[in-house]
Amino acid sequence: MPFLSEALARIRPSPTVAITAEAAALKAAGRDIIGLSAGEPDFPTPPNVRAAAIRAGMEGRTRSTAPAGTPELRAAIAAKFARENGLDYAPAEVMVSTGGKQVLFNALMATLDPGDEVIVPAPYWVSYPDMVRLAGGTPVILPAGLESGFRITPHALAAAITPRTKWLIFNSPSNPTGAGYGRDALRALTEVLMAHPQVWVLSDDIYEHIAYPPFRFCTPAEVEPGLRERTLTVNGVSKAYAMTGWRIGYAGGPRRLIDAMTTIQSQSTTNACSISQWAALEALTGDQGYIAEARAAFLRRRDLVVGLLDAIPGIDCPVPEGAFYVYPSIRGLIGKRTADGRIIARDADFAAALLEATGVATVFGAAFGVSPNFRVSYAASDATLTEACHRIEAFCRTLT
Ligand SMILES: Cc1ncc(COP(=O)(O)O)c(C=O)c1O
Repeated sequence: MPFLSEALARIRPSPTVAITAEAAALKAAGRDIIGLSAGEPDFPTPPNVRAAAIRAGMEGRTRSTAPAGTPELRAAIAAKFARENGLDYAPAEVMVSTGGKQVLFNALMATLDPGDEVIVPAPYWVSYPDMVRLAGGTPVILPAGLESGFRITPHALAAAITPRTKWLIFNSPSNPTGAGYGRDALRALTEVLMAHPQVWVLSDDIYEHIAYPPFRFCTPAEVEPGLRERTLTVNGVSKAYAMTGWRIGYAGGPRRLIDAMTTIQSQSTTNACSISQWAALEALTGDQGYIAEARAAFLRRRDLVVGLLDAIPGIDCPVPEGAFYVYPSIRGLIGKRTADGRIIARDADFAAALLEATGVATVFGAAFGVSPNFRVSYAASDATLTEACHRIEAFCRTLT
């Protein structure tokens, strides 16, 4: 009898986490590394949020909470959905987890059986397909490349749906491309979904607040209220308030799904960290000034990075609508040789050679399901990004 489970054999460690760890190890060993592989804002958590956490600790809010979250935070999340998304969720239709990641995990564990299919548009966030596999389902990858602006078309969505399709995972703005679906593009997809009542929608809205005008964020249950009873609207404080380490995500959805997810959570982590829940309450209900400040900084950096990368021969860098990533194509560099004679046959070769030659850590496109590309996180200072892009340019010019 094997010791390790079959479930484990179906997944791989997160490539983004692995590359970020490798870059950190190289840095610790004294190499001059610029890490642009991690998916977290480089700003500190706003001071009012940190103060709320200290207060919660000093007031002794240190015991387990209800598995679905404190009543105060659930009420604040319901109010947030009403205020910002026009979505009407009762606090009992809301739950809090240890990051958006655990929300997704709970939802998939609570609903998937062997043979159930989950449509995952690619490029995808690295965790979606593996979480589906871990929960026993089958990811059905639906590629959407540069030609379609990294957005799936209604026709392709309709063609991917089968009687076994249980979920569509929808992520706008997207990690890794930053591509966002405007209202019309989203409505075209919801029209397809309305014709397939067995398909649920898992909308991962974690980058909601990092969206650049004229693009305007919208979410499926808001665009098509007819989908509300089969949509899980997922969000969190990690990206919106620079709180990746606090591990608070949340979701709104139909009561029976929220109750099922809460059962899974009650048998795994019990509840999200109590102190972090009080901090998240302050993030959602306190001063919102951080959001606009961070958005302005990310917009400036997006334009800086797109401008510098797109000017490099062989690189084609589209302009994203949101998030803090660019996902340039390196089609023009495939087949070339590095100065030490290695062939760039795939995007993984490019990212590895780039790291070795210049110390710039990025993530190769194959990790996200669409190649040949690489993902650059621009959650770094303007000076760091400028230096990184110059190193990338110098590296590309050495390729022959
Ligand atoms: C698309 C997407 N969804 C969800 C998450 C999970 O975020 P967290 O678990 O920190 O809330 C991430 C984090 O990188 C992400 O990029």
